[in-house]
Amino acid sequence: MFLCVRRLAERRWSCSVRGMSSTSRRRRAPRCAFPVLDQPLQPVHQHVHDGNLRNSSACHQTFLELKEKVRKGGGENAVARHTQRNRKLLVRDRLRLLLDDEDFLELSPFAGLGLPYGDIPSAGCLTGIGRINGLWCVFIANDATVKGGTAYPITVKKQLRAQEIAIQNRLPCVYLVDSGGAFLPLQSEIFPDKNQGGRTFYNEAIMSSMKIPQVSVVCGSCTAGGAYIPTMAEETVMVHRIGTIFLGGPPLVKAATGEEVTPEELGGARLHAEVSGCVDHFAREEKEAYDYTRNIISTLNFQLPEEEEERRAEEEEPLYSSEELLALAPRCYNYSLDARMVISRLVDGSRFQEFKARFGQTLITGFARIRGHLVGMVANNGELLYQAALKGSHFVQLCDQRDIPLLFLQNTAPAAAPTLSTTQAEANSNRLKAHGSMMSAVACASVPKITVVIGGCHGADSYAMCGRAFDPNFLFLWPNARVSMVAPGHSDSLLPSDPEQDDLNEALNKESSAFFSSGRLWDDGVILPQDTRKVLGKCLDIIKQQRYQLSTEKERSTLLRV
Ligand code: COA
Repeated sequence: MFLCVRRLAERRWSCSVRGMSSTSRRRRAPRCAFPVLDQPLQPVHQHVHDGNLRNSSACHQTFLELKEKVRKGGGENAVARHTQRNRKLLVRDRLRLLLDDEDFLELSPFAGLGLPYGDIPSAGCLTGIGRINGLWCVFIANDATVKGGTAYPITVKKQLRAQEIAIQNRLPCVYLVDSGGAFLPLQSEIFPDKNQGGRTFYNEAIMSSMKIPQVSVVCGSCTAGGAYIPTMAEETVMVHRIGTIFLGGPPLVKAATGEEVTPEELGGARLHAEVSGCVDHFAREEKEAYDYTRNIISTLNFQLPEEEEERRAEEEEPLYSSEELLALAPRCYNYSLDARMVISRLVDGSRFQEFKARFGQTLITGFARIRGHLVGMVANNGELLYQAALKGSHFVQLCDQRDIPLLFLQNTAPAAAPTLSTTQAEANSNRLKAHGSMMSAVACASVPKITVVIGGCHGADSYAMCGRAFDPNFLFLWPNARVSMVAPGHSDSLLPSDPEQDDLNEALNKESSAFFSSGRLWDDGVILPQDTRKVLGKCLDIIKQQRYQLSTEKERSTLLRV
């Protein structure tokens, strides 16, 4: 009974949202003239700017080097094998044909670099969100130049994260499958557990039943596990000659029955389009397959708003150049400047309506617009003390009530608060309670959340500031960011002896780098400070798209392929 009432309430809510969108052209947000943040770089901070700039430039160099490494995929020989012998397009060329433009949001491009089992460029699979006929879609595209597109543990993690983003933001998924299945030497880390290989297929079914469209293109081999992605998709396109789907390939057939069979005969596009019915569209070549896919996307029942252009025209650029963010990206905690300086370089017209400006000043909260989208901003401006956390808790709930997305700018203190006196113990207990309250508010807020780590991501403060465990829709790092329990050089209260401290500091130095984090997929990617506004604008557009899907109301739909 309770469930029925809840469903009815949910439906009423979704109807009202839809009602809003269908008449949105005639409506407009109340006019706002938030105060302008006057935050020029001051000569008095020159040494901080210079230090940060030097560090940003070194980080940028690493960023470019890794980008180049990733661009090469599996290396020259593998690229030649892929394009010349196998006659297939490279994954980025495929995306060029599939997407409207190259202005897509690539997710975790550095995932897979620097892992104990080696460097796996792009984790063997590109993921991201791009527009197809104007509609934002998640894409998951194997790079077969990386060990035949086989799935390493990090590949599975990357695919699952892309699917999670699709679920959270209700984005259609397009899979470009070209994979030899599991990377067998690491099978124990891919196969058995809940969030491993099988979860990809589970998610596909669940998303489909939630009316989040699932479309796939077979543009290479789909062996073993890879075979389920197209078979379970709602609609599948398969490319003649280069696409194959089978659980065991010709060598397995030969070993089992002695029979010699070609991949094409065993599981080519003709067989699956004409005999098995595993796929729905036969494409004579790759280009045709992406044309089909684009047409499939235009059959999804979305009605996109026409007012986007108008909204864009009204956008105000910040008063300060985004390049100045490079001097504000702290090389370490002591080099952090007032977070309002960062805000003023990110938000429309540098306008910011601050909330509780005089209370709990180590946290800045307030409203702003980013590329026309209203957001509630929560930015660290020192340690997250008792009053600051109370204020954070209040503000997060306020945004939740008003249905305004939250943007966290995270730069947490480097070490845990010490307890050296009774007064301090009392202060710490109060802080603990306030942190708990803010964490609850963040965890329970049902509005979209985006987190950008602009400096430190350490300890419990990072949870309250919507760290990875608190499920932000997107989480990005600046290249200077540091991610660790405590920051390097701040572990003295945790370990007694010098040699152990030296070892720990060395490990912290290495393991807290933004690139170490991104290699392991603890985030959705490292973004450059000067690109942050653009990335955030895109994320907010993407998050909003679900409002425009028609026909979400039916109960779970039935299985499509039998
Ligand atoms: N596990 C581990 N390594 C694999 C692999 C797998 N499942 N499949 C391919 N590789 C490796 C190859 O050993 C080769 O490594 P190398 O570059 O170091 O020599 C590389 O991936 C590319 O494979 P190759 O066969 O040379 O390329 P190809 O383009 O001719 O064929 C495949 C690619 C995927 C079609 C083919 O390798 C294949 O059929 N693999 C077996 C698939 C399979 O049976 N998977 C079962 C998983 S449960």
